[in-house]
This record gives sequence, C-alpha cells and structure tokens, in this order.
Amino acid sequence: MATIEVVLGDITRQDVDAIVTAANESLLGGGGVDGAIHRAAGPRLAQAGSAIAPCDPGDAKATQAFDLDPPVRHVIHTVGPVWEGGAYGEAEVLASCYRRSLQVADELRARTVAFPAIATGVYGFPPGEAARIAVSTVRRTPTAVTTIRLVAFDEATHELYTAALHDEIGGDGPC
Ligand code: APR
Repeated sequence: MATIEVVLGDITRQDVDAIVTAANESLLGGGGVDGAIHRAAGPRLAQAGSAIAPCDPGDAKATQAFDLDPPVRHVIHTVGPVWEGGAYGEAEVLASCYRRSLQVADELRARTVAFPAIATGVYGFPPGEAARIAVSTVRRTPTAVTTIRLVAFDEATHELYTAALHDEIGGDGPC
C-alpha cells in the first residue's frame, strides 16, 4: 500500500522519481502545470512528447525528464477530461489518468511519484470532486509505487486534497 502525501508547492521542485504533467493530446506542452514542467525540463521534452503523441484523454505516456533536476528521471504525461458538466464520463476519464499514470510508473520502476491536480485548471473540473477522485483512485490502484505525492499549487486546492484524504482514510492513522 503506497503512502499518500498532500503537499503545497511546485511540482517541478519535488524530489521524486517521476512527476506527472496535466498535458494535452499533442504532448507539445501548454500553460499551467504543463507549461511549468516543459520550461523546467527544456525543449527536449516537447520533442520527446511529440514523438509518442497523441495521448488520449485518460491515458498516460512517459518520457525522460531531461533538464529537470535529479532525482526526477521521468515525466508521465496524462491528459485529463475537459469538464462539460459531468454527464460525459469526465469522472471516469479523470480516474483513468491516475490509474494509468501509476501503471506507467510501475513499468518505469518509479517508486515515488508526484501528481498535480489534474484537469482542475484550464479543463475546469470541479476541484472538490477531482480531489475525491484522485485520492480514491490512487488508494485503490494496485501499484509498486511506495510514495504518491499530491501536489497542490494553491491553498484552496491543498485544503480540498487534505480533506479528501482525511475522508478517505477516516482520519485513523497514516495512509
Ligand atoms: N506545480 C503544481 N501544480 C501546478 C503548477 C505547478 N508548477 N502550475 C499549475 N498547477 C496546478 C493548477 O493550479 C491546477 O490546480 O495544476 C492544476 C492543473 O491545472 P492546468 O495546468 O490548467 O491543467 P488542466 O486543467 O489539466 O488543463 C490542461 O492546460 O496547460 C494546458 O497543455 C495543457 O491543454 C492542457 C490543459
């Protein structure tokens, strides 16, 4: 069972084996967390991404981390759902992002993985529901990953993920 952490910070500064980016299907980079990771990893990230693109919503594909500082060795690119009101399978696509990213992490033998709050920015997914899906999915996905770090970029997101984790574990001890 992996340890799940919720932290407030910048995903490009996490000391983990792999970081997950909230990408678009082209894997060429964009704004938000994807833009931050591409800036930190350098132009080779977009070159590597375009070579394995497209990435379907809910899927995940890995590249090297290029100019990101060690110990980060991998970037796992996943494409979240664009929120369209909730009746178009958005929740399952988001859950699939977390599930597939952990499966890819296992293929890479990555033992520590950091996730941003996928789909809650440009893609408009309600952050409270996204937090519950994130925590529930990573807790229920069999994986050899030992540490799953959910990185919130702002206080409001941090509070939502902390509450989601607390609700999920019932507040009884480490998770
Ligand atoms: N570290 C951690 N989290 C971050 C960082 C960062 N440096 N920068 C932004 N975030 C957070 C945002 O605050 C938000 O909570 O990442 C979360 C996801 O927001 P977006 O980056 O907008 O991702 P998403 O909603 O999935 O939209 C993806 O936006 O940037 C484009 O190419 C991307 O087309 C894709 C779309």
